[in-house]
Amino acid sequence: MAHDLITVFGGTGFLGRAIVRHFVESGVAVRIAARHPSAPEFAGASNQIELQSADVRDENSVAEAVNGATGVVNAVGLYVEKGKATFDAIHVEGAERIARRAREANIRKLVHISGIGADPGSASKYVRARAHGEQRVQSAFPEAVILRPSVLFGPNDAFLGALKTVTRLPVVPLFGKGTTRLQPVYVEDVARAVLQALETPGVAGRIFELGGAQIYSYRDILERVLAHFSRRRLLLPVPFPIWRLLARISSLLPNPPLTRDQVILMETDNVVGTGAGTFGDLGIEPYSLEQMLTHCLGNPPQ
Ligand SMILES: NC(=O)c1ccc[n+]([C@@H]2O[C@H](COP(=O)([O-])OP(=O)(O)OC[C@H]3O[C@@H](n4cnc5c(N)ncnc54)[C@H](OP(=O)(O)O)[C@@H]3O)[C@@H](O)[C@H]2O)c1
Repeated sequence: MAHDLITVFGGTGFLGRAIVRHFVESGVAVRIAARHPSAPEFAGASNQIELQSADVRDENSVAEAVNGATGVVNAVGLYVEKGKATFDAIHVEGAERIARRAREANIRKLVHISGIGADPGSASKYVRARAHGEQRVQSAFPEAVILRPSVLFGPNDAFLGALKTVTRLPVVPLFGKGTTRLQPVYVEDVARAVLQALETPGVAGRIFELGGAQIYSYRDILERVLAHFSRRRLLLPVPFPIWRLLARISSLLPNPPLTRDQVILMETDNVVGTGAGTFGDLGIEPYSLEQMLTHCLGNPPQ
C-alpha cells in the first residue's frame, strides 16, 4: 500500500481517528473527510495527512473527497437525528453517495462501516437505515467490504464512559433485567480490521461481523466496571416499557440523553452471528473487554 491514498470519511470520529492512526503508522497517506476536519494530535508535522471538508449529504464535496484516492473508508457516525441529518440522509443516502462516487472515480477498494444487527425489519429506524445503507452500498459498489462491529470500547469512549458515570449513582438501573448480550469490541481491533480488509486478497464483496473475544450480559459488564472502581451498588431491574416512556419524554429535549432507538438496541443481543466473516478470517485475534478494562478506565483507586 506504499503509494496509496485512503480517504477516511468520518476520520475525526472515535473509530475514524483509530483508523487514521493505523494507516499513518503503516506508512499510508490519508485524507480525512468530515464536515469539520482536523488533524489528529499524533500527526505532528506529518505530511501523510490531508484534510478535506465534506458533508456526505453533498454530491460535490463527496466527489472532491474521493478524487485521486486509491481506497475509501466510510466511518461516518450518527446516533441521534438532528434536523436534516436523518438516519436515511447519512446512513442510507450518504453511504450510497460515497459508494457511487467512489465507483465513478474508479477507486479500487471501499470499506463501509455498519453495525451488528443491521436489519431492514427492525423496529428501530437507526437499525433499518443501517441495513438499507448496506444494500445501497452493495448495489453501487459490489466489491465493497462491509464491517459490522458490536459496541466499540477504548480509552475515552462513549460506552465505558457512560457506564463509569452510571455506576456513580447510589442505585444503578438495568435495561430490563440486564440480560441483553453484548460482545464489546476494542476500537483498535476494528481499525486493524479496516486495514486488513483493504489488504487481504479475496475479501471483496464480503460482510464481516466484528465482536470482542468475549460475550457478556449488560449486568456482567456493569459488575466488572463496579468491581474495577471498588464500588458496591444495588443493580435495579427496570422494565423496557419504562425505558421507552423515559425515551419519549427525553425526545422532547433539544439533545435527548436517551432515544427510542437506543432503548431498542439495548433490548436486542448484539453479538456475532453465523454466516458472516469474523476477525479470524482477517487474521486478527481480538481483545476482550476484561483484558483492556484497566487500559481504558485507568488504574483502580488504591
Ligand atoms: N461507537 C460504537 O460503539 C459503534 C458500534 C458499532 C458500529 N459503529 C459504527 O462505526 C462508525 C463510526 O462510529 P463512531 O462512534 O466512531 O462515530 P463518531 O465518533 O460519532 O464520529 C462520527 C464521524 O462522522 C463525521 N460526520 C458526521 N456527520 C457527517 C456528515 N454529514 N458528513 C461527513 N462526515 C460526518 C464526524 O465529523 P464531523 O462532525 O466533523 O462531520 C465524525 O468524524 C459508524 O458507522 C457507527 O455506526 C460504532
